[in-house]
Amino acid sequence: MKFSNSLIQWYLQNKRDLPWRDTTNPYIIWLSEIMLQQTRVAQGLPYFLRFTDAFPTVFDLANAQEEEVLKLWQGLGYYSRARNLHKTAKQVASEFNGEFPKTYEALLRLKGIGAYTAAAIASFAYNENVPVVDGNVFRVLARYFALETDIAANSAKKEFTELAAELLPKGQANLFNQAIMEFGALQCVPKNPDCSNCIFNDSCAALQLKKVGQLPVKSKK
Ligand code: ADE
Repeated sequence: MKFSNSLIQWYLQNKRDLPWRDTTNPYIIWLSEIMLQQTRVAQGLPYFLRFTDAFPTVFDLANAQEEEVLKLWQGLGYYSRARNLHKTAKQVASEFNGEFPKTYEALLRLKGIGAYTAAAIASFAYNENVPVVDGNVFRVLARYFALETDIAANSAKKEFTELAAELLPKGQANLFNQAIMEFGALQCVPKNPDCSNCIFNDSCAALQLKKVGQLPVKSKK
């Protein structure tokens, strides 16, 4: 598929060097994904480094006092994330002998791990062929294919997940998922994307229809 191959080539040339991309350790990947929810990379990065320094393994996190965990989280906001993180770490340490489950379906059964996080761990750590769908993915696909689906609608997640699954080159889930998220973060940005300097400026449906500014559609619910 031209879209997917071009995207991966773009990623290899333009990606940021981020520490959670140098590992297939599911614990480290999980931490990074929880920390980056509702948080920008520039803000989350120093927290990630301090956190992994203080708790290099899931046992270190599981055995920590909640107070210590919250202290390292201070300033990141959404403190329920830190409490849930701690709970999940305890579950993995006590019920799974410190080993994260090895498939998307099994990861989903952990407390506090939803579809996005399970897909991120399964694809980045195990290269399982499951797509990640976050705000970046919604935006890139809605624009490239000029999809008018309201991304706030309940049915949107399923539609975009199925499309992303078709686009994902089997055996390259790790690369493809990182690539589409990075493309949304750096090139296909929410406001005023630089479409004249985009690798897809001859194939993006939204650009051809002059709808980049209107897509994705997101109603206020
Ligand atoms: N935001 C959420 N997950 C990310 C990742 N794996 N890399 C960069 N930014 C992200």
